[in-house]
Amino acid sequence: MDPTPTRNAPSLADATRGRILFGGDYNPEQWPEETWQEDVRLMKEAGVNSVTVGVFSWAKLEPRPGAREFGWLDRLMDLMHEHGIGVVLATPTASPPPWMGRLHPETLPRDEDGRVEWWGSRQHFSHSSAAYRRHAAAVTEDLAARYGSHPALTMWHINNEYCTFDYGDEAAAAFRRWLQDKYGTVEALNRAWGTAFWSQGYDGWHEVLPPRHAHYMKNPTHVLDFKRFTSDMLLECYAAERDIVRRHTPHIPVTTNFMPLWVGQDAWKWAAEEDVVSVDSYPDPRDPLGAQDNALLQDMTRSQAAGGPWMLMEQAAGPVNWRGVNHPKPRGLNRLWSLQAVARGADAVCYFQWRQSRQGAEKFHSGMVSHAGERGRTFQEVKRIGAELARIGTEVTGTPVLSDIAILHEWNSWWAGAQDGRLSSEVDYAEVVRAWHRALWEAHLTTAFAHPEHDLTGYRLVVVPQLYLLTDAAIDNLLAYVRGGGTLVCGFLTGVADEDDRVRPGGMDVRLRELFGIRTLHEWWPLDAGSTAECEGFRGTLWSEEIEAEDGVAAARYEGGELHGLPAVLRRGGAWYVSTLPEPEALRDLLARIAEDAGVRPPLDGLPAGVEPVRRGGLLFLLNHGRDAVTVSVPGRHRDLLTGADVAETVELGRYGVVVLEESQ
Ligand code: GAL
Repeated sequence: MDPTPTRNAPSLADATRGRILFGGDYNPEQWPEETWQEDVRLMKEAGVNSVTVGVFSWAKLEPRPGAREFGWLDRLMDLMHEHGIGVVLATPTASPPPWMGRLHPETLPRDEDGRVEWWGSRQHFSHSSAAYRRHAAAVTEDLAARYGSHPALTMWHINNEYCTFDYGDEAAAAFRRWLQDKYGTVEALNRAWGTAFWSQGYDGWHEVLPPRHAHYMKNPTHVLDFKRFTSDMLLECYAAERDIVRRHTPHIPVTTNFMPLWVGQDAWKWAAEEDVVSVDSYPDPRDPLGAQDNALLQDMTRSQAAGGPWMLMEQAAGPVNWRGVNHPKPRGLNRLWSLQAVARGADAVCYFQWRQSRQGAEKFHSGMVSHAGERGRTFQEVKRIGAELARIGTEVTGTPVLSDIAILHEWNSWWAGAQDGRLSSEVDYAEVVRAWHRALWEAHLTTAFAHPEHDLTGYRLVVVPQLYLLTDAAIDNLLAYVRGGGTLVCGFLTGVADEDDRVRPGGMDVRLRELFGIRTLHEWWPLDAGSTAECEGFRGTLWSEEIEAEDGVAAARYEGGELHGLPAVLRRGGAWYVSTLPEPEALRDLLARIAEDAGVRPPLDGLPAGVEPVRRGGLLFLLNHGRDAVTVSVPGRHRDLLTGADVAETVELGRYGVVVLEESQ
């Protein structure tokens, strides 16, 4: 169904060994060593069995070039081992020490306007800098040599949230090399980029630059290739460090943490290079759709882990400090969202960070131990979560979450579709994906994510919220899927461009037009912000299309306005095309109906809104995302693994309540 890992690699199971990992980023260098003793006591109390150490420790480990100060880390590793706490050891390469920028200014990235990103914050490294890569490799080598056989080591964490762009000179040279590998000749590049437009034709490689600040709109394929290049360069940095630690410790799994639905990394490509797929998740506790945001990220991460267990590397026990207004998590929400991650496949539930910092840019970002200390509500709730995860670990770890539905998502398409010069800046790809996932989530259906070139035959229903760019291979894959009896639902602006971001003749690939029964796509009609298009039985938002269709394929038509009587939703056999974004309830009902026809139903009937059901292995998780208590009927006899209570026919879920039900014999 999903791609299978190609090497006989260590996995998350090597670190969990039947327990759910629970803990977080631990930055002991911010504290006097006396505090470490208290940390360990509280960690034991909270059931912490894993800490991620060293993420931002480069200046502490190597205060001047070539120096090595490992003493503190030796003591820390020993202390953790003595108390049975595993260490996910990070390479510190996300934040080079000040000496790096001072001695090697070319390691500092430049933005599109040529401005330098100076040291004094973090992530100020150029992925293309030879000096940066040399120093990063050296410190990684020494860390791996020193701690590779330490009994506390359970996993390697490479760098942190790779996300830097660089438009500087060393990056420009690397970009040219990357383009030469891809295109071979400048003529091929000119063809792919369509440089005949606006006199952009290149006469030699030396003329090609990153897409730096320019007078007006830039060449879209140039920008697209620069995004691909950046993702690949960062991946090279990751792989270089990974290969070093792997050489020392082939049996220890390696990860790097992804950011949620982050535009900068082709995470399908990246995930294939990891032993453990991990992610950081920070939905807004005030967002009524925060739980769905979580679910989306969890479904995506699980799918990147080929459907297997994954690691929640970071979440917040309370507030973050980078939104305009940062709210704490109300009582019970941390527990609910932690158990939601487990329901949707996580075998590790961790936080940024263990102890809230007293200084630095994140001193108002929560920790598992907040400024209120061990008596604080945050720590008390953390303790409860630790105890509950310990209770369910054996039954849960290693078990799969099954889904009959796949949402197709792909970064190249996101990059290409988000360029300047589009018909509507109101269309935000990530928001469209969120809307489709929300529709399925609100219909109580569990979804996976897949790349459009993955084998889709295991899914009964495949939905494409929007894939503006589709390769020929992806189109063949979709056609074969429908031919094989699958049900496919595509949203607007799908199949418009080829992989060079060249618009396909007719505005949509001809094979897709035939599949949906579209004779001519006359015009795209984007909708103004806040306005809607009336359709039979629902209202559309964001977009509409002037389509002339084959007979008998219109499943719903536009009503009124310029498009009156034209098809809004088309259906031909197992293929559906939705030329607008139906309002949330309408999209939910449409997809639920199509899913049911395809033989996909929620795990339970008659579930109240806001109750999320997920089957993981033989267990049924029910999560109440509301503040009001609800009663749910659950036919048969079950036992709640969290409390040991028997459940016969109905179960009461209080505010933010969760049960983990196992069928009783
Ligand atoms: C993550 C990052 C952490 C911390 C956290 C705060 O993006 O990896 O180091 O900054 O955000 O929310």
